[in-house]
Amino acid sequence: MKNNIYLIGFMGTGKTSIGKKLAEILNWTFVDTDKEIEKMLQISISEIFDKYGEEEFRKTESTVLANIANRRNLVVSTGGGIVLSYKNVEKMKESGFIVTLIARPEVICERLKSDKTRPLLAYLSDSEKLEEIKRLIFMRAGLYIKGDYIIDTSDIDPLSAAENIITFYNENKINN
Ligand code: S3P
Repeated sequence: MKNNIYLIGFMGTGKTSIGKKLAEILNWTFVDTDKEIEKMLQISISEIFDKYGEEEFRKTESTVLANIANRRNLVVSTGGGIVLSYKNVEKMKESGFIVTLIARPEVICERLKSDKTRPLLAYLSDSEKLEEIKRLIFMRAGLYIKGDYIIDTSDIDPLSAAENIITFYNENKINN
């Protein structure tokens, strides 16, 4: 059953802020996979990468997603790398409508300028950060396009993006 809306996309594309707006408008529950991982392991994402490494983080991410997929009427903000697992993408397809958020690398870089919570980008200089963002997006582009709907958030606010997604969602009645 397709009961949830999943937001996928690179870091800084607005999954959390748009997801919260979507949940508010639909009166659904908002869930963030990173927050669920932190709850499960009782430490921050950065500490998980530091202590256990990315592989362990990815395993927990898949476990968290499998639990979420059994629930309904959720707006799910996923971690940017959730699409790296083919099984994760399948789980989301089976249990919901997938919205891909994209944004220009320069916009993402600006949004994440002083962020230290993303281990894959923290501690890089501004120019290194932009290069790494471009590199990772290039590597993952083929995975992000698997969404049912794609929206560029570079120049719009979270409310407009949420309204745009809901219009498309209702018109396509993918929930039933
Ligand atoms: C990651 C994105 C992050 C978080 C982790 C890894 C990625 O989530 O899951 O730092 O691989 O792109 P956000 O996309 O919510 O920042």
